[in-house]
Amino acid sequence: MDRQQAENRFAELRKQLQYHAHRYYVLDNPEISDTEYDRLFRELLDLEAQFPELITPDSPSQRVGGEPLSAFAEAVHNLPMLSLDNVFAAEELDAFAEKVQRRLNSSAQLTWTAEPKIDGLAVELIYEHGLLIEGSTRGNGLVGENITANLRTVRNIPLCLDAAAPERLAVRGEVFLPRGDFAELNRQRTEQGQQLFANPRNAAAGSLRQLDSKITAARPLSCCIYGIADLRSVPCQNMAELFVWLEQMHLPVNPLVKICHNLAEIKAHYLRLQQLRHELDYAIDGMVVKVNEFNLQEQLGNTARAPRWAVAWKFAAAEAEAVIIGIEYQVGRTGAITPVAILEPVHIDGTVVRRATLHNQEEISRKGLMIGDTVLVRRAGDVIPEVVKPLLERRSGQEQAVVFPQQCPICEQALHRPEGEAVTRCGNLHCPAQKLQRIIWFAGKSGLDIDGLGLKNVEKLVEAGLIKDIPDLFALPKEQLAALEGWGEKSAEKLLQAIEKAKQTSLARLLAALGIRHIGKTTAELLAEHFVDLNQLLQTTPEHLLTVHGIGEQTASSLCDYFAAQENRELLARLLDLGLTIHSGLKKTAVSGQLSGLVFLFTGTLSHLTRAEAEQRVKQLGGEAVSSLSKKVTHLVAGEKAGSKLQKAAELGIRVLDEQEFLQIIGE
Ligand code: IVH
Repeated sequence: MDRQQAENRFAELRKQLQYHAHRYYVLDNPEISDTEYDRLFRELLDLEAQFPELITPDSPSQRVGGEPLSAFAEAVHNLPMLSLDNVFAAEELDAFAEKVQRRLNSSAQLTWTAEPKIDGLAVELIYEHGLLIEGSTRGNGLVGENITANLRTVRNIPLCLDAAAPERLAVRGEVFLPRGDFAELNRQRTEQGQQLFANPRNAAAGSLRQLDSKITAARPLSCCIYGIADLRSVPCQNMAELFVWLEQMHLPVNPLVKICHNLAEIKAHYLRLQQLRHELDYAIDGMVVKVNEFNLQEQLGNTARAPRWAVAWKFAAAEAEAVIIGIEYQVGRTGAITPVAILEPVHIDGTVVRRATLHNQEEISRKGLMIGDTVLVRRAGDVIPEVVKPLLERRSGQEQAVVFPQQCPICEQALHRPEGEAVTRCGNLHCPAQKLQRIIWFAGKSGLDIDGLGLKNVEKLVEAGLIKDIPDLFALPKEQLAALEGWGEKSAEKLLQAIEKAKQTSLARLLAALGIRHIGKTTAELLAEHFVDLNQLLQTTPEHLLTVHGIGEQTASSLCDYFAAQENRELLARLLDLGLTIHSGLKKTAVSGQLSGLVFLFTGTLSHLTRAEAEQRVKQLGGEAVSSLSKKVTHLVAGEKAGSKLQKAAELGIRVLDEQEFLQIIGE
């Protein structure tokens, strides 16, 4: 076969395979047998082996995954990927609909879509000139991870669209692992002694966020498109038309989307989905209700978090019966003892539940729980399962009373429960369990967010004796790290670099990272705004703290107690000695939010907001607003009569937005 013939045959095969894959994966209605499909596929692979230069990124062969990556690149969403507000009852849906009607200032009959809310991972797919050029996760809404190679392996995601596709199209949808495949995957993992995925959503996320796309390719993931980023990019006026159009583009859409003309129809569809959910091949956790017309959606707009034109109506929490086989007492970072019921494993809504929180001693007495009891366990969405009540009629007489420990299960110090409080505590600051939890907190997302230092690794380092307390993190010996089982020079180096980076922090982040009782992220930010530096804070009094906006008595005394303890002062001193640097300038970016990490500069005249208001919004959303142009600026917002900055920004490669785009980003 010469090259020209190969090229022709290649184009033909590609077209056929694409056509049949669509019939098979999207329409569920294949025309040819699997064997025939495999034969065509084989032929394509052979041809590509012979003429590798013919391979294009949209070839069906590219779905099998490429070379592993070392990390995901960032993917910026031109328009933010929002979340949804939830309602849980019909009355709340009525209230939502009423609000929509009021906002639109209209009593006209609206139409809506009601769609299954699929429990998977939100993704954005970008097609340019019909080709899938980028796929990403939601991330923080503005910046996600570029997982293009992995998304290319998802069988029902078309690698290229029909010729009629717009020049650029960004669609959004949910990637999920069908329930049967989820069960099978967990079965295999049990066999191989690997940790099980807790639910289909985790399995989907775990499969998609693989650096090696071959692993993703081996997972039977599926995608369902439910929307687009830019309403003007498609020839449609409403959701109903959009779904038809998406289907024409061969993009997978959910067959259970219903156009509803009134609330009664929406409610009927909810009941139908609730009944159907257990028969569906994929997990759904509710129904999404959206205003149908695009112009009304635009009129309603978004809040920073969610659209005002849509809402998720969640299904009631799933419940199941389980037997309590024991109780474990966990020691938290502030010494709080939390009883956790150990259950005989039970499936609730596709998830294996083995533990359920019992909150505290009082809760156990109030519910009258005994070990050996059959209890009702409830799991609502992602929250930790909890024990609702014992089923008294199931008692055999063999149950044993729960005896709350008098001593810390780890350090054996006598526990205490202050008057009027529900929580029992271990008061030993040196308790190894507390220390471990404090280190985990310090390194984790709510703390300094040290890359690669999650719960497992902290446990490992503690077990290996490399760290005993927080400051030890800043003095990890490289050779010993590298010598750990499963580690090496490279991973040790990487962790040390991440730690070095985390040493540069802000007062707010540090305060939140210390895990002081009552000092969460928001309180830490309030404190950091008030105090110039750590020294000033260390010298403050409870009386002065009470004058700080948002600080109450509990917080004030907790903070002063913390700083009064010699151990804690020493801990801070050691951290500073080991290179901890507190930048006051980082204060603003530490307010993590939708815009965190982004730096905005405004130029020209804005028409909807004053410049001060615009800067205020940026700050509220965790971004930084500056007044002069530098490389640090990530977004230049140009109002009317924007001057020379515009050109300079272009030279620096800075993203320029007009006011409208800015308003969209901040959800107004
Ligand atoms: S619309 C701006 N429709 O639910 C509107 N979301 O809890 C954003 N989801 O992040 C979403 N099925 O990942 C929409 N039919 C559906 C959905 C759906 C699942 C997910 C989506 C979103 C999350 C919000």
